[in-house]
This record gives sequence, C-alpha cells and structure tokens, in this order.
Amino acid sequence: MSDIRVQRRDGEIRVSSFRQVHHVAVLKRLDPADFRIITFRPTFLDPPTLAPRALARALVLATTISTPIMSHPTPPSADSEDPLARLEREFNLTPVQLSTIATRFVNEMRKGLDRHGATLPMIPTYVTSSVTGHERGSYMALDMGGTNLRVCRVDLEGAGRVSVEQETFVIPAELKLAPIVDLFDWVVSCVELFFTHKGHPLPLVDPETEAAQQDSLYVGFTFSFSVNQTALNRGTLLAWSKGFHCPGLLGTGADIVELLQESFRRRRHRIVVTALVNDTAGTLLACGYQDPTCKVGVILGTGTNAAYYETRSALRKWGTLPHEDPRSSFTEMIINTEWAEFDDERDVVPVTRYDCELDVATNDVGTSIFEKLISGLYLGEVVRLALADLHSHKLVFPRLADGADQPFRTAQKTLTEPYRFTSEYVSLIVADTSSDLAAVAQVLADFLGVPTAGISHTDCVVVRTVCSLVGTRAARLSAVGVAAIFTRRPELLEKEEGSTVAVDGSLFEKYPGWVEIMEETLRGLLGEERTRRIRLRLVKDGSGIGAAIVAMLAAQQQK
Ligand code: GLC
Repeated sequence: MSDIRVQRRDGEIRVSSFRQVHHVAVLKRLDPADFRIITFRPTFLDPPTLAPRALARALVLATTISTPIMSHPTPPSADSEDPLARLEREFNLTPVQLSTIATRFVNEMRKGLDRHGATLPMIPTYVTSSVTGHERGSYMALDMGGTNLRVCRVDLEGAGRVSVEQETFVIPAELKLAPIVDLFDWVVSCVELFFTHKGHPLPLVDPETEAAQQDSLYVGFTFSFSVNQTALNRGTLLAWSKGFHCPGLLGTGADIVELLQESFRRRRHRIVVTALVNDTAGTLLACGYQDPTCKVGVILGTGTNAAYYETRSALRKWGTLPHEDPRSSFTEMIINTEWAEFDDERDVVPVTRYDCELDVATNDVGTSIFEKLISGLYLGEVVRLALADLHSHKLVFPRLADGADQPFRTAQKTLTEPYRFTSEYVSLIVADTSSDLAAVAQVLADFLGVPTAGISHTDCVVVRTVCSLVGTRAARLSAVGVAAIFTRRPELLEKEEGSTVAVDGSLFEKYPGWVEIMEETLRGLLGEERTRRIRLRLVKDGSGIGAAIVAMLAAQQQK
C-alpha cells in the first residue's frame, strides 16, 4: 500500500507521508472540479523525511489534483448540484467522448507499433503462428494471474478437443510483496502439490546421471504482467500491477523464465520452462484451437488487457528488436497491447475525484489508469469511495452516522476500509432488478455487518445506481479498446464470418449486462454491420491452455 496519505478537509487536500505524518503539500479546491497546489513545505525535498518513491507519488498526486479533476467537456457543477446527479454526469461517457477515446486509442496503437517507449507498449509476443486445432501432445502450464496460480496438465487431443487436469492455488497476500525468489519457490511447491494430489510421479532429475532434456516435461508459463518479451521463452518485467511488488525483478534485467527455471533446478525437477505467455495471448490461442476466426483475446478480471494478431508490415519497430531467430519471416504476430497503460497522460479519458483518490493510494500511482477504471481489482473500491463521499453528505446509510449502537458504529468504519467493497458485491448488486431490491439489502447488510432492517430502500437505490454507473463506464471503456483493435485491422471483419473475441475474467462472466453494454458501445463506434460480425465469447481459464499451446509451438520450433 502507499506510504502517502491524502486527507480532504474543508476544500483543502493535505498530502502527507505515512511513516512521518509529515505535512507535504496543501492543495486548495477552487471549485468542485478544480484543485490547485497552494503550499509545498520546503522540507518536502528533504530525503530523510520522504523517500524518493513517496516524493514521486506526491508529485504525481499534485499534478493529478492540480489539473482539473475531470477532463470532462461538461462545465463543472455548482456546489449546490445534487451529488447523485453529479455522479451520473461524471461517470457517464457520452457517445462523443467514447469516439474521441477510441480515435486516440487507434493513434496510440500506431505509435506503440512504430517505436519503443510509447504509452501503449504493444509488446511482440513472438507467437507467429495460428493454431489449427489439429495439434496434439501433452504439456504443462502454470498460469499466474493476479489472484490465483493454476497448475495445469493439458492434453491437446486434436480436432479442437482439449482435456485439462488442474488445481488452483490462491496466491498468499504476503507473497505479492515478497522477494521474487520466494514467489517462484512457492510456484514450484504448488507444482509438487499438484503432482502429489493427482497421484502422478514427480519428474525429478536423477542425481547420478542428470536426465537428458528430451525426458523433461515442457511447461508454458503464463505470467500476467507487463513483460518486455525478447523471445518465446525470454522476457524482463516492465511493470508490476494488481498489487504485486516483488523485489528482485523490476529494473534488475533478470530474465523471468531463467529465475523460475532456477527455482525448479533447486528442487531438482526435470521441468523445462519453454514459453512465457501473457494471459491475453493464452486466452486468444486457447479459443483459436477451437475457432480459427478468433483473432483477439481480452482479459476482464483482476486486471485488464488485450492481445490480437497484427501484420508484420505494421510492426515497424520489429527491425530494432532482438530476434536472432531465422523464422522471423512471419506474416502475423500476436501483439500484447498492455492496454492498462492507455492514456496514462490523462488526456482523453475523463477521471473522477474517486479515481484520483484510488490511484494515489496504490503502489503504482500514476500508471495503469485505464485498468484502474475498468478492472475487477478496482471496481468495488471506486464504488466504495463514492459511497463514502455520499455518506459524508448523509445521502446514503444515514443510520451509520447516528453511532447509536454497536453494529452501526463498526459499519461506519467498514465503509472507510480500502478494498473491503469488492467487485463481486458490485455484480451481485447490479443483478438485483426487483422492485424491493431485497438482494441489494442483503449484500449491504453482509458487507456492513448490520441487520437488513438497518438498510433502507433509498440506501439500496443509491448504492445500486452508483454500482451501475461505475460498472457501465468500465464495460464501455473495455469496448472502446476492442473497437480500436478492429479499426486498426478492418480486414478482420471483411468476411461475413467475422471474428471471435475470446474474453476471460470475472467481470465479463459475472457482471450483469456487461456483454450487452459492450455490444451497444461497439455499435456506436463501429456501426451495426461490423458489430454484427464480432462475437464476444467467454473462454474460461483459457490462458493455461494457451500457455500449453505456446509450449507446444516452442517445442516445434526447437525441432
Ligand atoms: C495487467 C498486466 C497484463 C495482464 C492484465 C490482465 O494489466 O499488466 O499483462 O494481461 O493485467 O491479467
């Protein structure tokens, strides 16, 4: 978590360091949508009082809040504006805004394909073949997302058929911040448990002879972070996200596969990591094994991202990339867009005060803004911040303010706890379309730890409205990214058969109406005819299968 704290008081914002409770800056609210820095303490630059990272965060915060909070064309509201109406105005994205964002997205894709260091990284995955569905073989996959590690044994049976044996392990919270070696050693221990639980013999190296490589088990590793890939099985970390910050990887130049391989070696496993795969590419390939028209893979889960097949001629930066591989005469390659980073400059996507508040409390402040507006890790937190604000205006949960009896006092504290309100709650709440909103009352009672009688119908209506505003914005923005991909590659929709977009993630699966909102947004941006040719298809747990497919492709390349 961040070591910077932000407090709002009477139109001022105080930024202070968590450890030193040291006053850093005061930002004054000029009007409801505009804050300016009015004081910076000189001691701000004193190294013992503020670590450089914290300093960087404070500066980002300062620029975030000193520029208009909303890059919204609508004029800022008067203070008298009804807070709920203000929320509607701030979270609602108009068709014009959506189309402006989509146009910028296409331009940013172009820049990312042309050169390194663009805002949208557009990372080559080195996967240059499409799958046919006829491939066969047995491979292992390790699929590390933001929440779970899945260990899979994947049998590609041909004719688009796959059978998977798998076990899921929840990544312990402390390992998300532990040295990378600890995280990877834990991955290896999960593999050992998988073999034990499934009753398979562990492939170990013979201590005498050191087994030859052909006896080894090939593994594809899905590592769902921003990685600068330099070969099918090589890559360095570009940025942590989703609450991970494991020392020993970022900025060290260490190769991810090599480090994981080292962990296997230490345990004398006969396991060879042959492929490093992003979850988006994995999902795309898993779907492609059954459906050759699948050209795009999207993740809408803890994090969000997309990958798609791009033409060689468009990948202008390829000439400057390391690719000693003679097979660089490809025609198409899967590109991992890393769209979390789209508009990190905050030029086109309107953000609200709640988004800024959320951002400054993350450990990757100022980056992955697009993801923070869309993905499951953050959706509930944006809602919670908005609700806490409405509560301070007595517009929701007024009983909590009475402080009369115990459950209500504790409930008020619960509302102030970061990340206590999850995106699962958001989906459950939006799912209730009944007139009495009984399910909403139940979810809120569970969340706050109070009897349902303590939740009024108005509370339910307000909370449901906020959840739906935040969720709808997220679904629309995800559609903007998909529309941009098809605008870049219009030929994918030329044929009547069109294209499948493989999507995985809890939001797409569980948020009610996500697909419909995406389709409606796509229609607005691409028109009826082209949208009809896009099939958004849920591909659950595809990234593990995809990793196994890349392990197979890697094995083929080595022959
Ligand atoms: C984050 C990662 C990205 C991944 C996405 C979905 O944005 O940077 O690589 O694909 O989450 O898991």
